[in-house]
Amino acid sequence: TYVVTESCIKCKYTDCVDVCPVDCFREGPNFLVIDPDECIDCTLCEPECPAGAIFRDDDLPEGQEEYEEINARLAKVWPAIIQKKPAPEDADAWLEVKDKRGLLEE
Ligand code: SF4
Ligand code: F3S
Repeated sequence: TYVVTESCIKCKYTDCVDVCPVDCFREGPNFLVIDPDECIDCTLCEPECPAGAIFRDDDLPEGQEEYEEINARLAKVWPAIIQKKPAPEDADAWLEVKDKRGLLEE
């Protein structure tokens, strides 16, 4: 399955949503996750993310391993998002910021 990682937090560009053939993205206040029970590993979303936030579960960057559990858990409680929408106004300002884990709103 594919996993959304930290760089999505407060960026939330949602380009990923439009290309997913099985609509498996779920939306929280400032982050998106992928439902691992729905993702078919098609790879289409990975290159679409301007933040480079999407990785395959067996190829997660160092320090991003916990996002596998975060995606699986929040996918069960957050609603589906099936269409791209405008990013937060300050999304670009958060693009290069590291260590955003504490800012994730559940
Ligand atoms: Fe959707 Fe394909 Fe991305 Fe999985 S890999 S979330 S199926 S676009
Ligand atoms: Fe997040 Fe990238 Fe999608 S920033 S909303 S994973 S396009």
